[in-house]
Amino acid sequence: MNLPTSFPPRIEETPVLAQLIQDPAKAVNAIARAKPPELDEYGQLPKLASTFDHVDGLFYFTYAVCIFFFVLILGVLLFSVVKYRRKTFDQPAASNSTHNTPLEVVWTVIPLIIVMIMFAWGFKGCLDMTTVPQAASQNTYKATAAQWNWTFTYPNHPEKSRGEVWLEVNKPVQFLLESEDVLHAFYIPSMRVKRDVIPGRFQTVWFTPTQLGDYHLFCAEYCGDSHSLMYAQVHVVTAEEFAKAPWYTFDDSTPAKAAASGESIYKGQCSACHSVNGVAGAAPSWAGDKGLFKKDGDKVVGRERQVVENGATKTVVADEAYIRESIRMPLAKLVADYATKANMNAFGPDKLSDRELNAVIEYMKTLAK
Ligand code: CUA
Repeated sequence: MNLPTSFPPRIEETPVLAQLIQDPAKAVNAIARAKPPELDEYGQLPKLASTFDHVDGLFYFTYAVCIFFFVLILGVLLFSVVKYRRKTFDQPAASNSTHNTPLEVVWTVIPLIIVMIMFAWGFKGCLDMTTVPQAASQNTYKATAAQWNWTFTYPNHPEKSRGEVWLEVNKPVQFLLESEDVLHAFYIPSMRVKRDVIPGRFQTVWFTPTQLGDYHLFCAEYCGDSHSLMYAQVHVVTAEEFAKAPWYTFDDSTPAKAAASGESIYKGQCSACHSVNGVAGAAPSWAGDKGLFKKDGDKVVGRERQVVENGATKTVVADEAYIRESIRMPLAKLVADYATKANMNAFGPDKLSDRELNAVIEYMKTLAK
């Protein structure tokens, strides 16, 4: 079995749901091969990389209380079962008491105190997490969730990034969360933040990353077929590195560079649904017999494909004009095999500029065989 070498698994390695369902082991492997977050000193939580340490304190306090009472209650139970077991058939009961007021007061008041401690601790933490400090609001990113990808917009910088985001270490940051379609959730375990992304409403989340490194950002709300592939990497870098704007890598000065830029857009934005190995998934593959471009001698030309337009099936050539239309207006012509389940979001110029779209087409051409 070929194992994917990256997480999320690149679609050409571990394509699409259809295959994952046939081969669940592959899906499990894909997750196992993700660089696991280093664990903390107790081997439980991913190592803390933000200032939200109260999350860990409360988590371990609750954990310790649970273990203590589990052992205590089970111990008393086992002790009683052994010590007071019936040894003869007609043995009288050891005790007939039905009530013990001091005991009931004790086992009501002690748990109440413990629960109030948990509440106060959690409430304080909740206030910290929802009160955005000025430094964070002056460093506001936007994270846009869509089925099934993440796009990030930076403060004071026009270039977006897809599937990856760069942050400056020790600088408080706020994310404005926006959904283009359904409910998603923004979850970075190492930063101890999680927030639902709700369509039609701006949510915010803030934190201060304190450790250099790469971290996982998961979608933590089931949002459809490729929910499990809706993933992004968070890079926490030094101020010097950040100043170089490492997310700004778009280059279309030559066809080869444009194709490389197109490939990176593909990985960040298209790969959850479209494979490039001919295996059909949540959406048509860009390659293979039912793909987009093919080689005709030295030339790269569009393949014919069956589409449904206004309810009528017809054959079109998947050329550049068709592809542009399908990206800008995905519902204009539906690929026949997908006519009843087409659900792609439109990529307007604000989401994918004309130059970026052309770069994606350059990349599609490199898939021609
Ligand atoms: Cu988006 Cu799950």
